[in-house]
Order: sequence, then structure tokens, then C-alpha cells
Amino acid sequence: MTESNHIKNVALVGATGQVGSHILQRLLSSPSKFNITILTRKDSSAKIPTASNIKVCPVDYENHDELTTALTGVEVLIISLSVFTPKETQPALVDAAAAAKTVRYIIPNEWGTDWTDPVVNKTAMLGTGINETRDYIKSKGMSWISVVCGFWYEYSLGSGPNCYGFDFRSIPGKVYLYDGGNTPVNTSTWEHTGEGTVAMLELPIKSDSGLSIEGTFANSFLRLSSFQLSQRDMLAAVCRATSTSESEWEQITVSTEEYLKTGREQLQQGNRAGFGKILYGSVMEAYPDRNQGHAQAYQAHKGLHDEALGLAKEDLEACTKGALQIAKEKIETGQYWA
Ligand SMILES: NC(=O)c1ccc[n+]([C@@H]2O[C@H](COP(=O)([O-])OP(=O)(O)OC[C@H]3O[C@@H](n4cnc5c(N)ncnc54)[C@H](OP(=O)(O)O)[C@@H]3O)[C@@H](O)[C@H]2O)c1
Repeated sequence: MTESNHIKNVALVGATGQVGSHILQRLLSSPSKFNITILTRKDSSAKIPTASNIKVCPVDYENHDELTTALTGVEVLIISLSVFTPKETQPALVDAAAAAKTVRYIIPNEWGTDWTDPVVNKTAMLGTGINETRDYIKSKGMSWISVVCGFWYEYSLGSGPNCYGFDFRSIPGKVYLYDGGNTPVNTSTWEHTGEGTVAMLELPIKSDSGLSIEGTFANSFLRLSSFQLSQRDMLAAVCRATSTSESEWEQITVSTEEYLKTGREQLQQGNRAGFGKILYGSVMEAYPDRNQGHAQAYQAHKGLHDEALGLAKEDLEACTKGALQIAKEKIETGQYWA
């Protein structure tokens, strides 16, 4: 039997999550008609959609045999797990994927900035663990594909001032502008991240011309971006979406150096807000040498795959309104990160 040049069997971990649910939606609508295996915790109360091409495997992430059985026959493993997942879970999934013998590619639990980029890693210090995971996947004979999508736009704008700096508890409200708010960053919506990830999986595995999973993305990066925006661009978008003017918003310039220092202090005291300050502060800083490129404005110096994958352009105003709706819900339910 000749081997197919397209992926058919995909496993998704975290299919009910913020990004996972968008990946699942796009997998379900794909003309590739993927066979989708969903791994979920046995005690999860999340509601997984039903479809004839979905197989749900409730698992115990500490049970190697159970994970291996679930992943047998799978060619691509997509991991989108909560940040609160125990750190042993991802390596356990990699071990099981290797034992299953059919998994060729793993999309590890990154979904953001490339934290291994030395510019951001010097302050954020997340890169070491990420590199270890990528190396571990390779050491087990599989390839990693890292999805670089920047911070999620609607999430980072709508979750509270510790992210993109906007405080929507009143409108017009406040915005904390990192180093003046002019640093451009690439940022993607959940939907765009799901679209791009699945569009990549629809490519041929190998090709002599054009993009291919093996030739372009194996042990490499899928770079996506809905928009490249500075905080000042975001403020303009927020003003359009709320019919307010910029002069009505309280604009507070913060130094990222100071912000990172406070973030570290807060984290040491067990305050999670400090984590947000470190993450966002380290990529929003006014990077002095623009010629080297900024890690988070990767479209200029690393390039994007959106166009080559035929991804649709999104409407900034509609996405900004989506972020405001998220903020409203988080404020009402006490989940706003302020
Ligand atoms: N770019 C950004 O701005 C940004 C922001 C936040 C996070 N991220 C990254 O994206 C990844 C995915 O984040 P997300 O927000 O989509 O995840 P999420 O919605 O918080 O969680 C995804 C899934 O993880 C499973 N889960 C929850 N707690 C778990 C636990 N203790 N042990 C094992 N599984 C657990 C749940 O699935 P079941 O109920 O089905 O088991 C859940 O649906 C993160 O780990 C982080 O690396 C990026």
C-alpha cells in the first residue's frame, strides 16, 4: 500500500480550551475529513461536541498505557493544555506518542511568542523549558512544530490591565502604555490560530515545490498573525469600537523595566499578576535595536505563513468588539485580571 501524502489522523489534547476549541472547530470543518481523537481528563466536566469523526478518550495523564492506546494510529498530536497542568503531563504525552509508533509530528503546548528567541528569553526565562520539550520530541524520533501566534488579541485585550494594559472596568477607562505604547507586536485571535494550525495540517506532507509539512514546518515554526499593532493602535481601535475619543482615556506611561521589576516581586510573593507583567513587559518593551528586529514583531524579520496558507484577513473592529465582550463577561464573573 502506498503511504498517503496527507495527514488523516489527528489527536487533540485540550479540545474544550480557549484555543483548543477553535482548533477543533476548524478540524471539523476541514475538507480533509480528519479522524479526530480527543484526549480529555477522566474527571473533566467539559462538554465535547459529538461528530462521526470524533473519538473521545478520557485518560489519566499518569497512565502511560492508557495514553499509548489513545494515540495509536495518530499521526499528529496537538497539545493545548491549561497553564495549570502539571509539568509532567507534556513529557508523558511525548513518551506515549513515541510508544504508539505512528505519531510523526507534535505541536507542543506553546501557542504564543517564541520564548526561545534570545530577545525575550533574557527577561521571560521561559525558553529553557520550551527548548527541552522540543529536544525531547526530537530525541524520541518525532518532529515538533511550534505555532508562533503572538499573544492572543481578544484574550490579551479583554483579560485585564496586566496583559495589553487596558482597564475596561469603566469606559472610557485607563490604559497603561508600556514605554509609551509604540512597540509594534504581532498578535492573533483564537480563531486565526485555529485556522492557521489546521490549514498547515492540510498541506501535503512532502512536496518538491511550495509549502509542505515536512519540508517547511518539521522542527520549525508556523508563524501566524491576525494584526501587527502597538498599544496606541489598539487604543485607536478601542475608541472606534466604543465610540469614544482617545482624550477621554486615562493614559499612563509605564517603564517596562519598572514593570518587570514589580512583576518579579509580585511573583515572589505568590501574586500571579506578576506573571502577566513579566510576560507582557518583556515583549512590549521599546527594544533599542530595531534593526535586529523585535521578537514579538516577528513579521518583519522572520516572516509570516498566513498568506501562503490562504488565511482570511480579519476585521480589527469586530475583533476589538469581541475583546470588549470578553472583558465585560470577566468583570461580571470576577475573572478580570486587575
Ligand atoms: N498567546 C496567548 O496569549 C496565550 C495566553 C494563555 C495561554 N497561552 C498558551 O496556550 C496554552 C493553552 O491555553 P488555553 O488557555 O487554551 O488552555 P485552557 O483553556 O486553560 O485549558 C485547555 C484544556 O486543558 C485541560 N486542563 C485543564 N486543567 C488541566 C489540568 N490540571 N491537567 C490536565 N489538563 C487540564 C482542559 O481539558 P479537559 O477538560 O478536556 O481535560 C482544558 O480544556 C497554554 O498552556 C499556554 O501555553 C497562550
